[in-house]
Amino acid sequence: MYLAVLGRQGEISVAELRALFSDVKKIQSHLAVFNSDEQPDINKLGGSLKLAQKLNTKPLDFLADLPDGKITFGVSDYSVRASRKSASVEALKLKKILVRHGRSVRVVENRDATLSTATSLHNGLSGKNERKVELIKLDDEWYRVIGIQDIDAYAKRDQARPARDAKVGMLPPKLAQILINLCGSLAAGARVLDPFCGTGVVLQEALLMGYRVYGTDVDSRMVNYSERNIKWLLGQKLLEGEKDGWVLCSQGDATNFQWQVPIDGVACEGYLGKPFSEIPSEMELKVQKQECQAIIVGFLKNLSKQIKSGTPVVIAAPAWLRGSGTYERLGIFEQLFLKEKVDEIGKLGYNVGNESREGLLYHRENQVVARDIIILRKK
Ligand SMILES: C[S@@+](CC[C@H](N)C(=O)[O-])C[C@H]1O[C@@H](n2cnc3c(N)ncnc32)[C@H](O)[C@@H]1O
Repeated sequence: MYLAVLGRQGEISVAELRALFSDVKKIQSHLAVFNSDEQPDINKLGGSLKLAQKLNTKPLDFLADLPDGKITFGVSDYSVRASRKSASVEALKLKKILVRHGRSVRVVENRDATLSTATSLHNGLSGKNERKVELIKLDDEWYRVIGIQDIDAYAKRDQARPARDAKVGMLPPKLAQILINLCGSLAAGARVLDPFCGTGVVLQEALLMGYRVYGTDVDSRMVNYSERNIKWLLGQKLLEGEKDGWVLCSQGDATNFQWQVPIDGVACEGYLGKPFSEIPSEMELKVQKQECQAIIVGFLKNLSKQIKSGTPVVIAAPAWLRGSGTYERLGIFEQLFLKEKVDEIGKLGYNVGNESREGLLYHRENQVVARDIIILRKK
């Protein structure tokens, strides 16, 4: 059994886990448990901050069995009534017994009931060193942390890319990973298509996750940006093995382009319309909605004829903040969350995979254009 400490957008993080693992249960607003046959890799999950594995021994026995030498450990208490004190008391209790048995021990001090990801990372508790561990207490259960999201690695990938364009907006690498993972488990080397590839964030993350990539964009300047960024990524030697033939980029309008096959999964951030820093007027919104919907519907229609039954298609579409504080979706996706369904998506040849009636909206507080994540599968 594994435990995930979820990122800020909890529902989206849970959806990502559900797409990949079994028996996923959200147990608190920021915690989920799940099962997996293989040990999950935190570096391939955009929505989880920490991953931990359930201990099948008592925490004291687990620590006492660690290889000889000094032990460094910290305790995060995620129980409902946890406090800084409850976590520290547990940690010091364990330390006292271990010291009495002759072990050299350092405890990472708690400033809160739980250690922040930064504290855990800076104390080397990310699960890579056998004698440096973070233990998680959850009521009567104990877990050991096996991975912590590497914030620095994301920032580096995001900021060091040579070709950037503020106008197309910057898809956060974490969200790109989530979009890819929402396709479900794909085989190693599967080919992921992004038909709105822009500067190539989805393509880069898919390559890092072990997939072959195919990017197209109506704007040849963007195709060039994607190619430059991928070249840079390959030069960083962050990828294992040879990647000859793993990358294909070309200029093409998603509403009529004929893609090369195979396409095993489609993950993309579609055209989001004009960037807004203030809430658009009804008139402006109408124009934007029409423009964006025409492109997305045209794309889905064109794609539907070209992919095999069962192929996952995950799209981040725009949704706009209104004065009421809620977000307005594109008409075609609004229907998915109404009680009486109008089956326009079905007529285009897709089944919908979104489970929650609320949908999956990704946005910062007061961000005007949110990303509305839609999970489809070709019928
Ligand atoms: C929001 S951006 C995607 C940004 C991208 N995720 C990135 O990592 O930079 C949308 C992209 O869609 C492209 N686009 C707009 N209309 C298109 C169409 N009809 N077919 C293909 N691409 C289109 C734009 O050129 C733009 O690069």
